[in-house]
Amino acid sequence: MSFNTLDDLEPGQRVLVRLDLNSPVEDGTVQDNRRFERHAETVRELAERGDRVVCMAHQGRPGDDDFVSLRQHADILAEHVGRDVRFVPDTYGPEAVEAIGGLDDGEILLLENVRMCEDELPEATPEEKAETEFVRTLAAEFDAYVNDAYSAAHRKHASLVGFPLVLPSYAGRVMESEYEANTAIAEREFDGQVTMVVGGTKATDVIGVMNALDEKVDRFLLGGIAGELFLRAAGYPVGEDVEGLDLFDEQWEQNADTIRALLEERGDQITLAKDLAYEDAEGERAEVLVEDVAEKTQGFLDVGTDTVAVYDDVVRDSEAVFVKGALGLFEDERFSVGTVGVLEAIAETDCFSVVGGGDTSRAIEMYGLSEDDFSHVSIAGGAYIRALTGDPLPAVEVLEAEAN
Ligand code: 3PG
Ligand code: MG
Repeated sequence: MSFNTLDDLEPGQRVLVRLDLNSPVEDGTVQDNRRFERHAETVRELAERGDRVVCMAHQGRPGDDDFVSLRQHADILAEHVGRDVRFVPDTYGPEAVEAIGGLDDGEILLLENVRMCEDELPEATPEEKAETEFVRTLAAEFDAYVNDAYSAAHRKHASLVGFPLVLPSYAGRVMESEYEANTAIAEREFDGQVTMVVGGTKATDVIGVMNALDEKVDRFLLGGIAGELFLRAAGYPVGEDVEGLDLFDEQWEQNADTIRALLEERGDQITLAKDLAYEDAEGERAEVLVEDVAEKTQGFLDVGTDTVAVYDDVVRDSEAVFVKGALGLFEDERFSVGTVGVLEAIAETDCFSVVGGGDTSRAIEMYGLSEDDFSHVSIAGGAYIRALTGDPLPAVEVLEAEAN
């Protein structure tokens, strides 16, 4: 790792910490989730060492329903840290500066949603962001900057890339562990079979991952919307929009040639579902073999149990398994069989494993699996995909560039 970590930071200082507490918001209520629990460890460690800890984070984007204040986030974070977390409804104005100045050693403060500050969002270089009033004003109040927001590290926003140019900078514990696990597929050598489970709704993500990792991954197991598009390319009458669906045809038009080429050139690396599940007239889960589908008349919502058996065997023969995206609509228990079946197989074997991408990791707590049975459960979405495909993460790059 080529950035400084908390091990390099002298205790007892005024520390500005960027977290990613971006959370689902339902009817105005912020939902607790794994991000709070993870970042709480970094915050607690700093507070326990006697640092004055000031946290910044974002929530939603201007104009969206989930663009709300971080007041509720402070209370949720406090529960996880096990210490008070004060909140100030200001980012870098006089009220914020006063609240920062009023902290004692070991106390924690959360600033208002950084995206309420005009300097935050427009993507720009670290040099440009370092010059903003937001960064210059706030940096003057601190001895050090800690970036723990790996899951937002693909954004060139002021709070993520501006501060490392003006303050001694360090990676927090979440940044450190996410970075290490999510780059393992590119950086580590595994002796045995490396398997990647790819699903979810976006064909371009799946294609990107398959193109970037063809040398590193021995076997790709497909599911989800993307998996059905690959079945269509293989000649089956699935992977198209029927009765009100709007998921397949546009993606097909844009990606059909690429998918066909992937199947042709790397077909022996790719395993597709052999059966699919759907909802029958009684509202029960029913399954059909892909080769028996004469015409798609309704949506498929999961891979079938024969497919799960095949994928289960592959996982058990693997030395490393990376999961990106769900194999079905796991939020509905009837269609959780594929996603949960694969996760259970991973949990039961002692392969190196990383689970991430969108909401996939939510299946772990929804179905009573233990996070301890995986090497790493990522809290990142877009940044996880970018790490897998080898795209740069600007906020990580600037931490590395400014490390001494
Ligand atoms: C996320 O939740 O995906 C990250 O916090 C980044 O948020 P954004 O997609 O709104 O930039
Ligand atoms: Mg996002």
